[in-house]
Amino acid sequence: MPKTVPVLTIDGPSGSGKGTISRLVAARLGWHYLDSGALYRAVGLAAAWEQVDLSDEAAVAACAARADIRFETGPSEAGDAAAEPRVIVNGKDATHQLRMETAGAAASAIAALPAVRAALVDLQRGYRRAPGLVADGRDMGTVVFPQATLKVFLTASAAERAARRHKQLISKGISANLDSLRADLEMRDERDRNRAVAPLKPAEDAMLLDNSSLSVEASVEQVMGWWQQRRPF
Ligand code: DC
Repeated sequence: MPKTVPVLTIDGPSGSGKGTISRLVAARLGWHYLDSGALYRAVGLAAAWEQVDLSDEAAVAACAARADIRFETGPSEAGDAAAEPRVIVNGKDATHQLRMETAGAAASAIAALPAVRAALVDLQRGYRRAPGLVADGRDMGTVVFPQATLKVFLTASAAERAARRHKQLISKGISANLDSLRADLEMRDERDRNRAVAPLKPAEDAMLLDNSSLSVEASVEQVMGWWQQRRPF
C-alpha cells in the first residue's frame, strides 16, 4: 500500500531553502513532510547526551536505532505553513538546540557513517503515508525514495545560502557571524558531497533549481508547476 503513495523529494546543500520550500509545498498539497536533516541532527544530539564518541560508528548507530524522535506542531506553529515543527528527542524538546550550527556539524559528521545511515532508512521510509509525502534532505531522491514521482535538486550560491542562514539564526535570537557561517557551510557541503555513502548529488532524473535569485514563493510555484506536469492523474 505505501508504495502507491506519491513522494516528492527535495534535496540540496545546507541553506538552499529546502526546509521552507518543502513545508510550503507539503501544505499546498495537503501532504506529510519529512525533514530528514532533523533526524540526523537529533541522533547527533542524542549521542552527545549519552556521551557517545561521535566517531564510534557502532555506538552512534545503536543510538540512532533506539532514539525516539517526534515532530510536533504546537499552537504557535499551527496555521503557519512555513513554521518548523518542534522536535522532541527522547522525551525532551530539542527544537532550539537542533537549530544551532554545532548540531548541523555533528549531524554531518555522523551522517558519513554507513551504519548510522542504514539505521535511519526504514524510519524515513515509514513517513510515506497517504495522501503523499514531501521529503527533504541530501539523499531522498537517490537512496531513500528512488521511485519518487518528482525529484527536485535545489541549489543556491554559497554567499546567498550563508546570508539566508545568518538571517534565519538572527531572527531566532541565535548570534551568528556571516564569514564563519559561510566557511562552516562550505566545509559541511564538502564533507556531504565527498562521503562514500549516499553523497550529496542530484539524482539522475532530478529537476535542478538554482534559487539564488528566486523568492520562496517563486521556488514553490516552480516545484508545484513541475508536480502538475508530472502527476499521474
Ligand atoms: O538539512 P540539515 O542541514 O538539517 O542536515 C544536517 C546534516 O545532516 C547535513 O550536513 C548532512 C546530514 N544529512 C544527510 O546526510 N542526509 C540527509 N538526508 C539529511 C541530512
